[in-house]
Amino acid sequence: MRRCNERRQRLSRHVSSFSRFILLIPFVTLSLILPQCRAQQPSTAIPETQVTARANGLLQQMTLDEKIAQLSQLPGFPDPQFTRNAANPEDVIKKLGAGSVLWVPEPKEIDRLQHLAVEQSRLHIPILFGLDVIHGYRTTFPAPLALASSWNPQLVEQVQGVAAQEARSVGIQWSFAPMLDIARDARWGRMIEGAGEDPYLGAAIARAQVLGLQGGPQVAPDRVLACMKHFAGYGAADGGRDYDSSYVPEELMWNVYLPPFQAAVDAGVGSAMSAYMDLNDVPATGNKWLLTEVLRKTWNFKGFVVSDAFAVDSLIKHGYARDGSDAAYKAFTAGVNMDMASGTYLKYLPALVQQGRISQQQIDDMVRPILETKIRMGLFEHPYADLPKSEQVLNDPQHLQLARKAAQESMILLRNENGLLPLDKSKLKSIAVIGPLGDATTDLLSMWGSGTAPGPVVSVLQGIRDKAGSAISVEYAHGPNISRPIPSPFENIPFLKMKEQPKQTPEEAQKAFDDAVALAKRSDLAIMVLGELDLMSAESASRASLSLSNRQEELLEAVAATGKPVVLVLVNGRPLDIAWASEHVPEILEAWYPGGQGGNAVADLLFGEASPSAHLTVTWPRSSGQEPLYYNHNLTQLPETAPDFKSRYWDVKSTPLYPFGYGLSYTTFAFDNLKLSAEKAQLGGTIDVSADVSNTGSRAGTAVVQLYIHQRAGSASRPVRQLEGFERVTLAPGAKQTVHFKLGKNELQFYSPTEHEWVVEPEQFDVWVGGDSNAPLHGEFELTK
Ligand code: NOJ
Repeated sequence: MRRCNERRQRLSRHVSSFSRFILLIPFVTLSLILPQCRAQQPSTAIPETQVTARANGLLQQMTLDEKIAQLSQLPGFPDPQFTRNAANPEDVIKKLGAGSVLWVPEPKEIDRLQHLAVEQSRLHIPILFGLDVIHGYRTTFPAPLALASSWNPQLVEQVQGVAAQEARSVGIQWSFAPMLDIARDARWGRMIEGAGEDPYLGAAIARAQVLGLQGGPQVAPDRVLACMKHFAGYGAADGGRDYDSSYVPEELMWNVYLPPFQAAVDAGVGSAMSAYMDLNDVPATGNKWLLTEVLRKTWNFKGFVVSDAFAVDSLIKHGYARDGSDAAYKAFTAGVNMDMASGTYLKYLPALVQQGRISQQQIDDMVRPILETKIRMGLFEHPYADLPKSEQVLNDPQHLQLARKAAQESMILLRNENGLLPLDKSKLKSIAVIGPLGDATTDLLSMWGSGTAPGPVVSVLQGIRDKAGSAISVEYAHGPNISRPIPSPFENIPFLKMKEQPKQTPEEAQKAFDDAVALAKRSDLAIMVLGELDLMSAESASRASLSLSNRQEELLEAVAATGKPVVLVLVNGRPLDIAWASEHVPEILEAWYPGGQGGNAVADLLFGEASPSAHLTVTWPRSSGQEPLYYNHNLTQLPETAPDFKSRYWDVKSTPLYPFGYGLSYTTFAFDNLKLSAEKAQLGGTIDVSADVSNTGSRAGTAVVQLYIHQRAGSASRPVRQLEGFERVTLAPGAKQTVHFKLGKNELQFYSPTEHEWVVEPEQFDVWVGGDSNAPLHGEFELTK
């Protein structure tokens, strides 16, 4: 428990009192928290000297081919799309063993392959099974962007703890999570997999995810090895086009894109995945600066690096490697320990060693961290999962309870102009649920959520029906089907279970449209569930327009024109263009992809059994033409606040529709009494900032108190605002609390492009505290030499 308490203290900058947290947040039970703390102390911990000695002992017995098999991750099912150049996995496993196998979600198949490796390969080295358990295995939690919107690292840690326990119970020992790519452009389809645009929040969520997945810096026996990805700069793809090149200057790498990765390394993440794209003209998978200079030398990372899928082979397609041999050489010498799925190492490394281009010593150095990981994790002693026992873990009712709470805390109330929410049951006789996502199930899970072994999913329709009870009639109209004009390559991969809605004739679509409007007309209230199917916001799912696609916008406008009250519930993976709705639909709830309990959580929030508390972790644009759009941009010679220069565009305001950090509650909060411990502090000193937050409404609610700073001058221009602290505070009506933040070296430093190093500068600073990145409550201080 002591280590657990220490960890809590480290996290206490976000929540000033853990016990207060327990008392105030409904649904959090001690039993959900304590197992996590226990997982901090693996009973099987083997002293580090023994770990290395055992790995070296194995290396001495291994042939070159066996070593190279450990550097290989094999696709675990014989789908031609996935095996491409790869040798038959079973043959490799029996003959040489394998470092890892991926894409096998079924426990029995994992077990079968593990038996092959342990019983039939010469040295009986167990396989490390990897899968994208990004936000749940059986119990599916909200997608990562949604979870981050909770601004609740403790919740994120709990969620990933449960995801890890479920995965490990069936033999998956490695998750390709957390995804730590900063995303400043909503056109990029993978924004949904990360924590949003901010490096400070991104680092806090990264830390929480690693602690949850692994149970601590060492992987606990009931948790999984975490894999931070995609290292690094993937979210900066040109034009938001997935896989396209990223051009990120050095200072932006250090100040914006790398902090979540560094936080994960500091938290003890055991593995990293190199990204797909070119970073400043050098593919990340062949990028020595990233994989060796930054990761190993600067951050002292001791785990191992796996490439993204086929990325070693893809070095040829990038025009970076001449052929397979060159690709293997470049990825290996850049620092990629394990080749995911392409088979390039298996095929070309033996000759590279025989030719003397790569030494045996280099091979051993790359294999050692993989063996050490397996030894530390106890895989040699316990290679198999206890499948009968896993049913208990997978069906733990507390997991569903946590999924529901996580979904409640992930949904953002964007608008509640008429105060229609929370809904008053006594005033309703009939509700129309309308829209192509109203009865969606797997689409609520998001790409990787549907690709594990998800349990039953509660649709929004079901959640509302259950909550409304028998006194209110709830009818559903789907409206026209939605689909991508250019299909997703992932639709054909059966285990991902992602499907388009069938194409309709114009007549069929029109009938569905008319039926939906007619239903609205005969109901007291329309709850419209619009947005994106899971394959519209994922890998290979970038978009040029952020509109409510197909005929959804038209349907929304037609239903609103009936004059019936409308609540818009969005199910999607990124901000969408809802400029019209933001003026004409008074109630808007952003539900993201909320996971298996999503429908229940939507109903809990709409009917007031839970109060919305989530806040945006991405800036919400008015139109896709504004992207990339982010709050922490620099000041310019003509700020938008200047009287005659109100916008950068002449056709739309350049300010966002909703700012970073924004989110409403069913109550209101006031922020005042900002105090700084000093007006001046010496370099190296610390300033304490405090402010009061009060609940000024008539219901209990949770505020996310945010601290922003700005450095007024220095060796480089600094962002107009940057987040440097936050805390969730739950308050009864009329209650007030003082929140404290510290501004020290970590918060005040930045990587200077003129100094080429981290600096804290003797300058003047602004400070703001409030409920979003436009918070007006202001203070200032100066750092002196
Ligand atoms: C490709 C994706 O980019 C990555 O995020 C994922 O972990 C791997 N495939 C494995 O599925």
